[in-house]
Amino acid sequence: VAEPDLAGRHVVISAGGTREPLDPVRYLGNRSSGKQGYALARTAVARGARVTLIEANTGLPDPAGADVVRIGTAVQLREAVLKAAADADVVVMAAAVADFRPAEYATGKIKKKDGEEAPVVPLVRNPDILAEVAAERARPGQLVVGFAAETDDVLANGRAKLRRKGCDLLVVNEVGERKTFGSEENEAVVLSADGTETSVPYGPKEALADTVWDLVSGRFQQM
Ligand code: C5P
Repeated sequence: VAEPDLAGRHVVISAGGTREPLDPVRYLGNRSSGKQGYALARTAVARGARVTLIEANTGLPDPAGADVVRIGTAVQLREAVLKAAADADVVVMAAAVADFRPAEYATGKIKKKDGEEAPVVPLVRNPDILAEVAAERARPGQLVVGFAAETDDVLANGRAKLRRKGCDLLVVNEVGERKTFGSEENEAVVLSADGTETSVPYGPKEALADTVWDLVSGRFQQM
């Protein structure tokens, strides 16, 4: 059993990937499995936290001891995160949020018609939830943690993203075939707004989760 170093803390974690509906049968989605967010939830429960897990389309069983809120789209995720963040000590945005959604939802299934061109689907930007939560800080001393999956210039892009989003910690993954999506393992560097960088070697998603909580718990102790 881990040290209950998060006892008395309310942690809010988003997990999974949003789906942005086009019509009643289709959506724009992404490959996030939700496993990293669930590992964060399990380890936070083990360390004594009160956990709110905001789940987007994972199909995973509820982690014992966490309050689970189910949502589907980025707009719904934003609403659920802002609500839960109001009394959170730390918000961890592990969910993969669609950057864009279809500008309009077709209430009937979009049909292909003989002799017609393929339809063009206009998209609009989704809100950046992480940036909003980081800018708002619903509570003094609230910590905000983001995730970033990068394919190249991983560290340089990660450092720029940490500043742009205004979060305290950013967990940067290199996206690859073997790593990250759907896998039980992960490998990452945790970048901190104070400039420290913590490498987490390839291993179970729980190990990366525990490193995040070690860093969070260290911050709480300094406050
Ligand atoms: O900008 P990018 O999508 O790479 O940033 C990833 C981080 O930002 C993740 O923590 C993700 O949950 C969060 N995010 C968000 N709202 C968006 C897009 C990403 O909160 N619209």
